[in-house]
Amino acid sequence: MVKSIPFEVRLVYGIQFESLPMKLDWKDSYKTGEAGIDRQHQGLFDDVAKVLAAEDRDALLLCTMALVRNTQAHFEYEEKVMRRIVYPGIAEHFKEHTDLMGKVTAFSERVANETLSQADIEEFVIGWLVGHIKSFDAKLATYIWSFYPNWNDGLLK
Ligand SMILES: [Fe+2]
Ligand SMILES: [Fe+2]
Repeated sequence: MVKSIPFEVRLVYGIQFESLPMKLDWKDSYKTGEAGIDRQHQGLFDDVAKVLAAEDRDALLLCTMALVRNTQAHFEYEEKVMRRIVYPGIAEHFKEHTDLMGKVTAFSERVANETLSQADIEEFVIGWLVGHIKSFDAKLATYIWSFYPNWNDGLLK
């Protein structure tokens, strides 16, 4: 369960976040079964939780930078998996990652510029992270388990 946003941060941004934490919990239904991807997805949820729980602007910037960095590393991992299995949906999934990196970068810039709103965070977390996991990544997982049932045994490093 994610802590609610500290009062000081709410004051800085002039917004209320009370409705957010419930939606940020990691759920087992987000699992793909691919051990590396699932571990990284949970890490991204933790990163987002840290962004929302940051006590001051410096902490907020640091946490956001970690989120951007880990998102990039996660996408690179998934792309490596897709290349290894010659995934037929590779082009559209790559493109989606590129678009999402743009959104993550824009999000971090808005954090830096202090123009973050509740709607931005909700869109970011629900639309981006959860939306992508439940569509593109779930489709990738279906392919992995259909054609590579023992995939986790030879997990990519
Ligand atoms: Fe992913
Ligand atoms: Fe993905």
